[in-house]
Amino acid sequence: MVPAFHRYWYEADDTWLANTYLGYEIFQCPLDLQLYQELIFRLRPDFIVQTGVAQGGSLLYFATLLDLIEAPPTAVVVGVDIVMSEKARSLSNPRIKLFEGDSVDVRLIDEIRAVLPRAAGWCAWTPTTAGDTWRPS
Ligand SMILES: C[S@@+](CC[C@H](N)C(=O)[O-])C[C@H]1O[C@@H](n2cnc3c(N)ncnc32)[C@H](O)[C@@H]1O
Repeated sequence: MVPAFHRYWYEADDTWLANTYLGYEIFQCPLDLQLYQELIFRLRPDFIVQTGVAQGGSLLYFATLLDLIEAPPTAVVVGVDIVMSEKARSLSNPRIKLFEGDSVDVRLIDEIRAVLPRAAGWCAWTPTTAGDTWRPS
């Protein structure tokens, strides 16, 4: 049953491709969003890096969760996309920082490291694997 649900969710055009968060498309399974909020509440990350921004819904979701748990203003959400959408560029939450480029480009990774607080963070790594932990060196 789980594989069948997974396949249906992935292939139907009225599931993950139709979801929005506060008006921004969010290409996620709502079950994952439940788990993300549990992780963010428990871990209280100093930063979150998401590679693969698309329309920006997940970035806004992460940023507003940080707002809700009253994370310090230094807690940031970094979004990386190879082509940054106009919708994502319209995000105005001050925690959100956008970077356009290839998420495996080492020069871009260095640029991102430079804006991260020196503390443990959490990375939602969309193009390859989900939920990798990444600490700046
Ligand atoms: C499924 S969408 C991301 C959905 C988004 N995380 C969300 O929750 O709404 C995948 C995104 O990854 C981006 N992408 C693909 N390859 C990439 C790469 N090498 N570096 C950065 N972004 C990439 C695409 O441009 C696309 O916007």
